[in-house]
Amino acid sequence: MKILVTGGAGFIASHITDAYINAGHDVFIIDNFSSGRKENVNHKATLIEMDINDEKVDELFKIEKFDIINHHAAQMDVRFSVDNPRFDATTNILGSLNLYESAKKYGVKKVIFASTGGAVYGEQDYFPADENHPTSPCSPYGIAKLANEKYLFYYKQIFGMEHVIFRYVNVYGPRQNPHGEAGVVAIFINKMLSGNQPVINGDGLNTRDYVFVEDVVKANLLALKSNVSGIYNNLKYY
Ligand SMILES: NC(=O)c1ccc[n+]([C@@H]2O[C@H](COP(=O)([O-])OP(=O)(O)OC[C@H]3O[C@@H](n4cnc5c(N)ncnc54)[C@H](O)[C@@H]3O)[C@@H](O)[C@H]2O)c1
Repeated sequence: MKILVTGGAGFIASHITDAYINAGHDVFIIDNFSSGRKENVNHKATLIEMDINDEKVDELFKIEKFDIINHHAAQMDVRFSVDNPRFDATTNILGSLNLYESAKKYGVKKVIFASTGGAVYGEQDYFPADENHPTSPCSPYGIAKLANEKYLFYYKQIFGMEHVIFRYVNVYGPRQNPHGEAGVVAIFINKMLSGNQPVINGDGLNTRDYVFVEDVVKANLLALKSNVSGIYNNLKYY
């Protein structure tokens, strides 16, 4: 299949790109390198250095006729979104819509979208949250991710464009940036490697969910199958 991976120079989507290429797919990457790195980019992928908001996105879809979009490009810093909600929405809502509109226009069959289990639920009523837990996001980032989910539902209902939505929580593994505000596993390992002590906030009894990036990759491979669609926040269902 011909697949467009957005954010393919970043942590998670670079692993997904590798797996798609190993599985024999023809992969294109859009990335603006705002946090992605050149060394993460698989040299067998076609790299297009572009912002997802660029009007040239439409031309790309028109020429390449993608079967599937795997959409991982995002402004992914929750605290930054609180300080800069308009920037966050420009990338995470309008940038996505720029892709979805072209996808609809040129017959993309399915969108695989990286949502978040950590930010769409808000304060949780019960633990662990399942997919039916009420969604009351408490940050612009969470609101934007939920808006994407709603748009994708709309594109499916009205235009028949399928989706698979993954509500990831705390993905960890190789290539993760230990300098960001997310990624506690990378932050802790980095601290320990440099002889410092990691700090656990709270009373030590807090629970968090973590998922290894290769498990995320497996889910993104299975999501290519035509009979897989819907919202998943726990990759064990695969
Ligand atoms: N890492 C996690 O634990 C986690 C948890 C929940 C959801 N997610 C989501 O998964 C996705 C990938 O996260 P990641 O940890 O790999 O982050 P990352 O920062 O490593 O990757 C994001 C990629 O998107 C690119 N990008 C950002 N804005 C762009 C734009 N406007 N146009 C084109 N490219 C752009 C960046 O350059 C980068 O390569 C994001 O959508 C994020 O919200 C991640």
